[in-house]
Amino acid sequence: MRILITAGPTREPIDPVRYISNRSSGKMGYALAAAARDAGHDVLLVSGPVALAPPEGVELLPVTSAAEMFAAVEGEIGRCGAAIFAAAVADYTPAHPARQKIKKVPGSGAGMTLELVPTRDILGSARGTFGFAGLLVGFAAETEDVREHALGKLRRKGCDFLVANDVSRRDIGFDGDQNEVVVYAADGPETPVPKGPKSEVARAVLRTIGLG
Ligand code: CTP
Repeated sequence: MRILITAGPTREPIDPVRYISNRSSGKMGYALAAAARDAGHDVLLVSGPVALAPPEGVELLPVTSAAEMFAAVEGEIGRCGAAIFAAAVADYTPAHPARQKIKKVPGSGAGMTLELVPTRDILGSARGTFGFAGLLVGFAAETEDVREHALGKLRRKGCDFLVANDVSRRDIGFDGDQNEVVVYAADGPETPVPKGPKSEVARAVLRTIGLG
């Protein structure tokens, strides 16, 4: 099956040299891409800026901002039978990115306020805007009330599965090499995946969602 996977953070430009981003390393998404390839799937990896080499045999579509990731997914998802949204997409972006580097006003001591506007929810657009009828899998990175938030996102975004991780824990999740997740299925079952290297967690997630 052709599978689209989003991975990594997005960068939202403030000016030509500055941006807003987050701590996502892309490791979980890249591990999923490698595991899906190993399971015999044809993988398209839509990735924000990361310090990782793309897994061999995986098609890479690099993007930078949330808007670029939205456009890339919109253009490709129709050719895929499954889509896994592991990217940590910025929820807000600067309203008016400056064309030139923003200069401070010397000696004024004044602060500055950056106006942000919401980005479009890519996963949340899959069922409606993109008309995607394939297997839809979201991720949720939470610091509290993980189960409640995960189940809310699963329903709100029309997912078949939602993979939740607790990013308040320092030993797993963002940036690390290990993860521990719970996979929530729209039809009820909740499958805990024990702590392990992201490559192993990726394989277990794929099995749980019927792609491994
Ligand atoms: N997501 C997306 N596009 C966005 C924001 C999120 O595709 N603009 C996807 C992520 O890739 C992930 C899921 O939605 O699969 C959940 O992302 P998250 O940021 O945790 O959820 P939000 O709906 O943004 O909720 P909140 O930030 O309030 O927790």
